[in-house]
Amino acid sequence: FSLKPYNTFGIEVSAKYFTEITNTEELKNALNFSDVQTLPILFLGGGSNILLTQDFDGLAIKLDLKGITEENRTENEVLITAKAGENWHNFVMYCLKNNYGGLENLSLIPGNVGTSPMQNIGAYGTEIKDVFVNCKVLNLETLGIENFDLEKCRFAYRDSIFKQEGKGKYVILEVTFKLTKKDHIIKTEYGAIQSELEKMGIQNPTIQDISKAVIHIRQSKLPDPKIIGNAGSFFKNPTIPLVQFEVLKQKFENIQGYPNGNQVKVPAGWLIEQCGWKGKQIGNVASHQLQSLVIVNATGNATGKEIFDFSTMIIDSVKEKFGIELEREVNII
Ligand code: EPU
Repeated sequence: FSLKPYNTFGIEVSAKYFTEITNTEELKNALNFSDVQTLPILFLGGGSNILLTQDFDGLAIKLDLKGITEENRTENEVLITAKAGENWHNFVMYCLKNNYGGLENLSLIPGNVGTSPMQNIGAYGTEIKDVFVNCKVLNLETLGIENFDLEKCRFAYRDSIFKQEGKGKYVILEVTFKLTKKDHIIKTEYGAIQSELEKMGIQNPTIQDISKAVIHIRQSKLPDPKIIGNAGSFFKNPTIPLVQFEVLKQKFENIQGYPNGNQVKVPAGWLIEQCGWKGKQIGNVASHQLQSLVIVNATGNATGKEIFDFSTMIIDSVKEKFGIELEREVNII
């Protein structure tokens, strides 16, 4: 069964078995089947953060649970719950249409609601942890339903319990967010948003304006996976000790960094560009010409292995030039 339509890199690999599930019962049946056949399982959400490097000799389960429900909490607050299989951007658009605030900075992020807590998706000054209430998960060992609140998820930059101790142990079924109905908190600190709003001639932006600005910025530099295969940022922005940053600053005076205590987050895109990778293509794979943090399936014919090897070359050259070890953000399978 071809998994090409189910990963945004557009990699042609196959799974021995494949099923799409739309409710918890179907999910349990699929798990039962894999148990009886002793098959490994691969869960597929939006497929926007995975790199498939080989055929999968097991059962691929596409999570297609759908539905959005709301519960008014106070005059100004709404709790909104979306099932795992809802497309993230459509969900954000639904919220904005209803004038619910909190997710506008996260417009146009690829993927589904169910995978958003995995890596605490974030962009333009917001992370989902800022509006997250809880998520309902299926425990794969006990088959019981459990609730993970904000604290239990242990969110950090591009990280959560689901990438650490909880890895492979749970399936996220639905996620609940706390959004505002009025007196929205507008977040425009991210420089790119400010300049985009200026370009748009907007002084007092609404949440819908913020969303439009974010969409413009993303469309202007991030490749659309429907047109050219990619999984967004391939690497995390590394955090290094302040002392190391200061030493680098003497040698590379243009190096950028966002200090946080005695640590500094350095934009990986800048490091990669400085090593000459921006827009560079080897075989079927390239670093995107407008944002070098994004690796693209340039010809549409790349294999997962080629992309993986390309990413290793980037890691090696950044390590050699700056002494910084980049970490992949995309899940390698
Ligand atoms: N930069 C370069 N060269 C490049 C790319 C970036 O010099 O090729 C510099 C830019 O000039 C800028 C800085 O790096 O000063 C930061 O660039 P940008 O604003 O594009 O953000 P980023 O740090 O590269 C992160 C997220 C993105 C998110 C943006 C906006 C990570 C790994 N990536 O990218 O998330 O959209 O911030 O908030 O944190 C994703 O995860 O798939 C993703 C796209």
